[in-house]
Amino acid sequence: MRFALIGAGAIGTVHARLIDALEATLVAVVDQDLERGAQLAEHYGAKPYATAAEAYAAEEIDAVGVCVPSALHADAAIEALQAGKHVIVEKPVDITLEAADRLIVAERKTGLTVSVISQRRFQPPVAQIRAAIDGGSLGRVTSGIAESAFFRPQSYYDGDDWRGTLAVDGGGALMNQGIHALDLLVWMLGKPVRVSAETGRLAHKGIEVEDLAGATIVFESGAIGLMLASTAAYPGRPVRLTIHGDQGTAVLDDDVLAYFASANGQPPEAATLEGPEDWSEVELAHLAQYRDFIAAVREDRPPAITLEAGRRSLATVLAVYESARTGRPVELED
Ligand SMILES: NC(=O)c1ccc[n+]([C@@H]2O[C@H](COP(=O)([O-])OP(=O)(O)OC[C@H]3O[C@@H](n4cnc5c(N)ncnc54)[C@H](O)[C@@H]3O)[C@@H](O)[C@H]2O)c1
Repeated sequence: MRFALIGAGAIGTVHARLIDALEATLVAVVDQDLERGAQLAEHYGAKPYATAAEAYAAEEIDAVGVCVPSALHADAAIEALQAGKHVIVEKPVDITLEAADRLIVAERKTGLTVSVISQRRFQPPVAQIRAAIDGGSLGRVTSGIAESAFFRPQSYYDGDDWRGTLAVDGGGALMNQGIHALDLLVWMLGKPVRVSAETGRLAHKGIEVEDLAGATIVFESGAIGLMLASTAAYPGRPVRLTIHGDQGTAVLDDDVLAYFASANGQPPEAATLEGPEDWSEVELAHLAQYRDFIAAVREDRPPAITLEAGRRSLATVLAVYESARTGRPVELED
């Protein structure tokens, strides 16, 4: 499969490595910063382009990885779909539901495949917890806690002009970082129906977005989720995710299944992720999502993480912001 990447920054560089590690070829790198794009392209034997339109006109491309800043995701993905390319788009799917919905319409109209990155769903201990829920070993799921107690120094926000802006980042500790663990909570607990939240900006200057968000989320099943997303928690800890049921409890901490207890026995077997031995588990999980995307295109089936799944996590993030702004609980619509 022949790929183009739109965006050659931090995560674009990771995508190039993923494509290189799979049965796929990177043929074009598009970046408005031509030098940056050219550097990445040269490393993988691809060609650099200033715009996606030029790349699509010049190269045979099957699929596109969208790695530009968050508010540009839907437009870049729609342009790719309209040019007949399948799309794997970074999280968040975009920063508004209007943009996410335009992308969903384009996907349906073209019949092409779109997947939204949420690589942590592929981590073996995360998949184990989900399998424990599906297999009934936790019983009825009653609550979950998603904790993203991260730290970003002031220089993180000062270093790029789009970070920490409402218009392009679309949010802060939750929209950019905490969305990963929130997506896992939503994946485990189901459809969120009501959100009550508070946000704050306590440890950074010159940003328009929150560096702290806390929320209570009620799910359709009646389960209650608690969520903390912070970039103001020095020195920062790995994601911690706890799922409680009336027959068991599972805890993900430091990227391992740190605790598992069930009235019904042992946890499901952990899968091993294929890939280079010296890669971290999160990198291998990213690779696993790319592999799933390529297989979904080849087999003409939906990818493991669909646009609708990406939209659900975005809708939950936006409900947190609305609840914090209005001081009232927000009901989530279908
Ligand atoms: N899945 C993950 O773990 C993960 C990690 C980091 C970032 N991300 C997501 O990836 C996206 C990019 O983040 P990043 O850290 O790589 O940002 P970055 O600033 O390092 O890179 C963005 C790149 O896009 C280019 N760009 C900007 N506007 C463009 C345009 N209109 N056309 C072409 N190129 C353009 C910039 O020149 C830059 O090279 C964000 O949405 C972020 O949320 C995901």
